[in-house]
Amino acid sequence: MTSSNIQNIGFIGAGKMAEGIMKGLIKSGVIHSEKIFASDIDPDRLSWLSQTYGIKSAASLETVQACDVVFFAVKPQQADSVFEELKAISLDGKLILSIMAGVPTRRIEEGLKTGVHVIRIMPNIAATVQAAASAFCLGKWATADDAALTRTLLKTFGTAVQVEEKHLDAITGLSGSGPAYVFAFIEALADGGVRMGLSRDTALTLAAQTVKGAAKMLLETGDHPAVLRDRVTSPAGTTSYGLAEMEKYGFKNAVIQAVVRATERSKELGQ
Ligand SMILES: NC(=O)c1ccc[n+]([C@@H]2O[C@H](COP(=O)([O-])OP(=O)(O)OC[C@H]3O[C@@H](n4cnc5c(N)ncnc54)[C@H](OP(=O)(O)O)[C@@H]3O)[C@@H](O)[C@H]2O)c1
Repeated sequence: MTSSNIQNIGFIGAGKMAEGIMKGLIKSGVIHSEKIFASDIDPDRLSWLSQTYGIKSAASLETVQACDVVFFAVKPQQADSVFEELKAISLDGKLILSIMAGVPTRRIEEGLKTGVHVIRIMPNIAATVQAAASAFCLGKWATADDAALTRTLLKTFGTAVQVEEKHLDAITGLSGSGPAYVFAFIEALADGGVRMGLSRDTALTLAAQTVKGAAKMLLETGDHPAVLRDRVTSPAGTTSYGLAEMEKYGFKNAVIQAVVRATERSKELGQ
């Protein structure tokens, strides 16, 4: 199966993340909204999504039966009830894309059927604005074609890298939790501006755009961050004084430790 011959794409769970993914798929033209099916416990949510995006709402069983690619986008603690519901039907020829945090491919395969093609994805909340940093890994029966298709679909709402499943906890600690660290940084940058007399609005606008611009430069040039940093740090200039203060208060180590602790917590929650 390739992106050009997918019949329908389904979503079990139509919350925030599912909506972000749907938007990316529709905007990119990979699939027409009429070929997207979604099921959710909340009927009001489904009718709102149908009215807003023109997708079809259906029960979980119908969604899976109608679709050849199905996103599992319920909360991890709701996974077992979904597996139970789907026990009765055939999943032959279907690709299951799970975004449920901390649920290993082995558990999904065991909860469904032997031979089912499963790919596990760790996106982040920026999927809601089609700018996610996603990583994915293959389950036991997923193929290279499944991986290629998954990459194409993930790229409609951000970037995607393929990894081994053992790295997904570290990815959860880095890019899964990462947006929250960056929000904290932007807030602190703006607080500094406010402390020095800027209005809150001005400080936040400049801080957010600064982060966006710096990330864009790094992604577009491919240069190491230290090289880019050196380029804007002139001898005895303002930036060199600012950076020295950051290091004095342990900025870099604080961020490294945030990723380490979040990774450990992801491992704990997955057990
Ligand atoms: N948010 C993030 O930053 C993020 C990042 C990476 C991965 N994820 C993963 O993405 C998944 C979805 O997250 P989210 O933030 O989109 O959650 P969410 O907004 O709570 O969406 C999940 C939706 O699924 C519905 N649901 C529950 N049980 C169901 C069932 N048996 N059949 C059909 N629908 C059902 C829920 O309804 P109720 O609300 O009524 O229960 C809810 O509308 C989670 O597994 C999460 O771990 C999230």
